[in-house]
Amino acid sequence: MSPKIRVAVAGASGVTGSSVVNALLATRERFEVTALVRPLSLGKQVFVEYAQRGVVVKAVELDGPAGAVAQILAGVDVVISCMTLLQMKEEMTLVTAAHEAGVSRYVPSFFGPVCPPRGVMLAREMKENILDHVKSLYLPYTIIDVGWWYQLSLPPLRSGKVRVKEEYSTTQIVGDGTNPWALVDNRDIGKYLARIIVDPETLNKQVFCYSEVWTQDDVYESWGVVTGESINRNPISKEEILQIISEGEADMAHGDLGSAAMLKLGMAQYKYLLGIRGDDTPEHAKYLGYLDAKELYPDIVASSFKNYMNDLFTGCIKAPYT
Ligand SMILES: NC(=O)c1ccc[n+]([C@@H]2O[C@H](COP(=O)([O-])OP(=O)(O)OC[C@H]3O[C@@H](n4cnc5c(N)ncnc54)[C@H](OP(=O)(O)O)[C@@H]3O)[C@@H](O)[C@H]2O)c1
Repeated sequence: MSPKIRVAVAGASGVTGSSVVNALLATRERFEVTALVRPLSLGKQVFVEYAQRGVVVKAVELDGPAGAVAQILAGVDVVISCMTLLQMKEEMTLVTAAHEAGVSRYVPSFFGPVCPPRGVMLAREMKENILDHVKSLYLPYTIIDVGWWYQLSLPPLRSGKVRVKEEYSTTQIVGDGTNPWALVDNRDIGKYLARIIVDPETLNKQVFCYSEVWTQDDVYESWGVVTGESINRNPISKEEILQIISEGEADMAHGDLGSAAMLKLGMAQYKYLLGIRGDDTPEHAKYLGYLDAKELYPDIVASSFKNYMNDLFTGCIKAPYT
């Protein structure tokens, strides 16, 4: 039997990180999984459960010197970041440390919709800055983008039976609602990633792994059918989004670099990208040079959005961040 591939995950307790850890543990004969945890979070129940399931939990201060992090990464084959852009500095340190430790593949925290590298949205540009750092070190990498989560695509119900984290979600019909965009069940991300990180064809490449393509019109109609409720379309126009984007850019230009300002600008730019520009499609992914995970791994069955709607409505699962 070939030796296990040693994978270290930063951000393992988060939504994307949990999807990744669960998928790696599902083929535990293949992977040895280490969670890189900031000391502050070591006591969290999720890490106790991970340890019980065979994850090696290691305390790491990513805010510290890269040399110390590199020592912790000694012997690791693949490093995956599932942190957010609020941990940009920590991720830059992780990249440097992964290089120093000689890891054979680094997966930065992209996991977003399809988007050209520069000139469309700030969050993407910040992620590209991380990739620039990766490339400046000739660190082997794979970019994984996934489309927009099912979990952030449904509006709340008037009855109150389903609540969602609205500030992170596309709970308004953007423009006329007819733009198709690629969506993913975030629980599927790990399934794809577990295949991608052992595939030599994906080294130093971008891979797009989405589940289904929907328009918001169709999403809202199906959500109405599943729930039997009339759904609030709460539309937002192109002009309104552009106004929010210019306010957000002005706030940031005046030095407001806090998470609230970033969220306001970021969500408006996501809505513009998804519903107005229409970047997030498999066709645009091909144009931008992504490999398509559906073609690479046709045996992987993506979860359907209709099933997700049913499971959410019947209470089998909860909306994320709630
Ligand atoms: N495509 C989409 O629709 C979509 C939607 C949302 C997010 N995303 C992307 O997915 C990626 C992950 O986001 P997420 O929402 O899954 O993350 P999340 O749930 O917010 O989790 C963030 C993780 O980062 C860890 N963390 C925070 N501060 C840290 C520090 N100083 N040192 C080490 N770890 C730290 C947290 O760990 P502890 O707090 O336990 O320490 C947690 O595990 C991002 O790139 C984001 O842009 C995509």
